[in-house]
Amino acid sequence: MRLILLGPPGAGKGTQATRLVDKCGIPQISTGEILRAAVREGTPLGKSAKDFMDAGKLVPDSVVIGIIEERVKAADCAPGFMLDGFPRTVPQADALKDVLAKMGLKIDHVVSIEVPNEELVIRLTGRRMCKGCGAGYHVKFDPPKSAGVCDKCGGALFQRDDDKEETIRARLKVYEDQTAPLIAYYRQAGLLRPIEGMGGMGDIFGRIVGVLNG
Ligand code: AP5
Repeated sequence: MRLILLGPPGAGKGTQATRLVDKCGIPQISTGEILRAAVREGTPLGKSAKDFMDAGKLVPDSVVIGIIEERVKAADCAPGFMLDGFPRTVPQADALKDVLAKMGLKIDHVVSIEVPNEELVIRLTGRRMCKGCGAGYHVKFDPPKSAGVCDKCGGALFQRDDDKEETIRARLKVYEDQTAPLIAYYRQAGLLRPIEGMGGMGDIFGRIVGVLNG
């Protein structure tokens, strides 16, 4: 199965992708995670992406399309994959279609998680990530057992640079302008599976699994 998880920043794409990896046995491909790793490692990719990310802007299409083109050809993607944070523009969606068509493949479902903007700001300002294993938490909705410490690996938790309120508002604007048009794009293609993104994380997971099995 080849899936796209679509939704604004903070909709819960990463949260649900982690659960779906266990359920479906296919890898999660997060362009945001790939880019943040490149920034941490100080690679040429990371150096070119950092300013865009810190400003809440999209990294140029040519850069992310190149990343995805290489990643979906990897052996672990043979049984399928889950794209989290890609595509984010119509040119990225067109490029993905072309790359997959050349491999004789296509996307099966586009799961679009819908959450109102004010809830997104609350989710993102309270998000914390583990420095060690990358696990995600929320100070109120999904707190670790011990404040500031990862339950899974004991690593220190931190706030992402782009999770400050001013940058969050910029990211939401970018989403409205450049990514939201993909909803109509995939509806027209007959692939859109809208999901109500308010409620408990487990409830939302159940809705997604129901749609994928339906
Ligand atoms: P990226 O990392 O993709 O960020 P994003 O799309 O903005 O999404 P987030 O990771 O912020 O949110 P999420 O939907 O995964 O929410 P999460 O599950 O963590 O991209 C970052 C940057 O990289 C971009 O701004 C851009 O610069 C660049 N980039 C990446 N891809 C690109 C591309 N294709 N093209 C160009 N540039 C690209 O949940 C959020 C919080 O809410 C967590 O704390 C979680 O615990 C909590 N939460 C989740 N579900 C619930 C719930 N049901 N109830 C309560 N709390 C919940």
